[in-house]
Amino acid sequence: MKAIIYHSMSKKKTSKEIALKIEGDHFEIKPLKPINTYFFQLIVYGFKTVANKGVKYEKMDIDFSKYEEIVFVSPVWAGRVNAFMRQFLKDNRFHDKKVTIIGSCEGGYDKYFESYKGLIDGCCEIVEKQMYVKGVKE
Ligand SMILES: Cc1cc2nc3c(=O)[nH]c(=O)nc-3n(C[C@H](O)[C@H](O)[C@H](O)COP(=O)(O)O)c2cc1C
Repeated sequence: MKAIIYHSMSKKKTSKEIALKIEGDHFEIKPLKPINTYFFQLIVYGFKTVANKGVKYEKMDIDFSKYEEIVFVSPVWAGRVNAFMRQFLKDNRFHDKKVTIIGSCEGGYDKYFESYKGLIDGCCEIVEKQMYVKGVKE
């Protein structure tokens, strides 16, 4: 059984669309106080992502023991894992799982997969990495 944990911010909701096509239990990381203007998202969330600042999201209860595999789907921000997915991974530790990491971006994702280092326990096995550029799988 898979848990699909996703965050999606833009109006297109690309990561959400990708996540919902995968079979399993879905969990959305929702910001507590979302910023709705793209310009301010770029400035505020771009800064928080690069400066490794904390963000707040709605409380989620996930029983990780129910799942063999966990799939993470989220947008690339500043070339790397975005602030909300990073915060979720800092707050939720899990062990001995298969993990798939999926990103969604416009084409710039140089640090995305390596930026998960240290956020996912070494006892987990990363089984797949996928990137969607403008909604199309690479
Ligand atoms: C703060 C911020 C930073 C972003 N940084 C990048 C980036 O470095 N590279 C890129 O290709 N796209 C970047 N984007 C665009 C998103 O990654 C892209 O539109 C993504 O597909 C949105 O997914 P979503 O619809 O699930 O939110 C950024 C968007 C925001 C809001």
